[in-house]
Amino acid sequence: GWTMEDVMEEEIMVIKDTVGPDEHVICALSGGVDSTVAAALVHKAIGDRLHCVFVDNGLLRYKEKERVMETFQKDLHLPVVCVDAVDQFLSQLKGVTDPETKRKIIGKEFIAIFDEFAHKLEGKLGKKPSYLVQGTLYPDVIESCPPPGSGRTHSHTIKSHHNVGGLPKDMKLKLIEPLKLLFKDEVRQLGRILDVPQAFLKRHPFPGPGLAVRVLGDVTEGNALDILRQVDEIFIQSIKDAGLYDSIWQAFAVFLPVRSVGVQGDQRTHSHVVALRAVTSQDGMTADWYYFEHKFLDDVARKICNGVRGVNRVVQDITSKPPSTIEWE
Ligand code: XMP
Repeated sequence: GWTMEDVMEEEIMVIKDTVGPDEHVICALSGGVDSTVAAALVHKAIGDRLHCVFVDNGLLRYKEKERVMETFQKDLHLPVVCVDAVDQFLSQLKGVTDPETKRKIIGKEFIAIFDEFAHKLEGKLGKKPSYLVQGTLYPDVIESCPPPGSGRTHSHTIKSHHNVGGLPKDMKLKLIEPLKLLFKDEVRQLGRILDVPQAFLKRHPFPGPGLAVRVLGDVTEGNALDILRQVDEIFIQSIKDAGLYDSIWQAFAVFLPVRSVGVQGDQRTHSHVVALRAVTSQDGMTADWYYFEHKFLDDVARKICNGVRGVNRVVQDITSKPPSTIEWE
């Protein structure tokens, strides 16, 4: 039988054979497990002829940029540029409330930025990069191309999913998809032998459009994003402290575009409501809401209202998928 070490060696050989000695490769890192492991593998094969980009779109979680950049640079020594595109994304999203329109804008903006990165790199290298790395997994391959007669249909027609890695238009890049025969747990194993930190490999999935699908309505309204980041961080940290993180598929907070009346100190308040969502799932296609102890929920709600200015009410989402989806938008 083969081991994951064998798979890694085999993949590295394939990549070395594929990419010519003076060809260059680009990769968009999302901060997720798949793109990170794919990049780490390609880096092992071709070194700094790999060029990665991470985009701060203003829709990231609390300290996310700092945390993932540290993993990319300190743990993995990946050559990565961090592009600050916060204003570019948020100005495009201003006033937009329709969930699908938000996703489309984010996807389009992302491609524009990636395009610019690729062209700048071309200027620096004096030649076009030849390949694009994508962290496509085996289930993605099956899903986007169901075997004929299988009765399967494309499963993401309800929400358009924009994973990072749209192709720069005129670059004619060839694809390198080193994970395309692997399942998620195999990618984690591979990540482990490539020195991706264990905590990073266990991170919950996070949607490409980021907090845009977790601030309902206009994401630029008031300080919704900032409030959401703080609430989310308290919730996730509490889950980790209680030792529950690995039992949950995804946990996050949602910012609701409503205010409710509360009383804090001697003051009547008219502040924001946030929802907490945690689910268990095998693959994200169906999900069950997670049962927390009442004491845990009580502590979290207090921490949130005491710690986050502008929030006076916390509710929990107790629906499964179906009929709900995991995200609220
Ligand atoms: P839903 O909300 O459809 O989500 O039950 C299922 C899984 O997919 C993630 N998700 C997304 N991922 N772009 C992504 O890359 C998206 O637009 C998107 N929408 C949902 C969601 O977080 C869950 O893991």
